[in-house]
Amino acid sequence: KTSDYKTLNKEKPIVIAHRGASGLYPEHTIKAYETAIEQGADFIEPDLVMTSDGVLIISHDSYLSATTNIADHPEFADRKTSRETPLGVQEDWWVDDFTLEEIKTLKARQAFKGRSKAHDDIYDIVTFEEIMDLAIHHANKGRIVGLHIEAKWPNYFASIGHDMVDPLLNGIEKKQLQKLGIPVFIQCFEPSFLNKVSQKSDLPLIQNIAIEKTAKPMGWDIKIEDTTTTGLGIYKELVLNSDGSTSDYVARAHAAGLVVHVYTLRDDAVMEGYSSVEDELIALFNAGVDGVWADFPATALKVRDAL
Ligand code: G3P
Ligand code: CA
Repeated sequence: KTSDYKTLNKEKPIVIAHRGASGLYPEHTIKAYETAIEQGADFIEPDLVMTSDGVLIISHDSYLSATTNIADHPEFADRKTSRETPLGVQEDWWVDDFTLEEIKTLKARQAFKGRSKAHDDIYDIVTFEEIMDLAIHHANKGRIVGLHIEAKWPNYFASIGHDMVDPLLNGIEKKQLQKLGIPVFIQCFEPSFLNKVSQKSDLPLIQNIAIEKTAKPMGWDIKIEDTTTTGLGIYKELVLNSDGSTSDYVARAHAAGLVVHVYTLRDDAVMEGYSSVEDELIALFNAGVDGVWADFPATALKVRDAL
């Protein structure tokens, strides 16, 4: 059966639980990760940012309003500031203005429109160390789950004196993930960060590609032939066409020796031209993608395991 897969290495494509099972529980919480592990995800995905005291924590955003209950904390009311970001000016509570101790007083909230908020205000914000400990805990019981780790805005954090390269690599080294057989990918939208990581580590790297042309620091114009990482993390529209056909993107990446991981598969947000997330997944797997990020990993696993 293995030889039937159309992936670069002819092995099963991987299912990466995007921010954990974030379709079911607030993203990046232990509950979301544990659920993904129970469902059988191959990898869980933490997005990393850094606190004012230099601790790597897990958050998709570098601000706290969307995924936490900080707005309900009167003690932080005057800590909102306006900041110019590569995506525009925004007023918010910024992660790098808060210590880990302060952030640990917050609780996570579902950020995705239309999803249940029944599990809001229960779960803590998770540190990088804690997600590594979670993977180690499961590995010690015989359940290997990989970490597909994204560094968010590392050049910004470096510019304020919080370089992420060493804390990231030293953390992984200290926890001896490799020795325990826990697979790790490092992914980032910023090519210069991955380049720095490659000078200090042999870990497999995934160059993410954004399609928003306004997001220039995010590597939106990366060319397959210029890429020196293990692979690419791409938006599904680069493979799935709106008429239901697929592009030659995966074949071109494979020809260049690059794996392709695709974001983001969502049961509740399907592309034009596709009637369901299952249709999207079948088309992606038939195109040969090597992995998918899924908000509902159980759905992706069901389709993948029926291949
Ligand atoms: O990291 C790639 C994938 O997770 C999609 O990006 O914005 O959800 O971190 P994002
Ligand atoms: Ca991510």
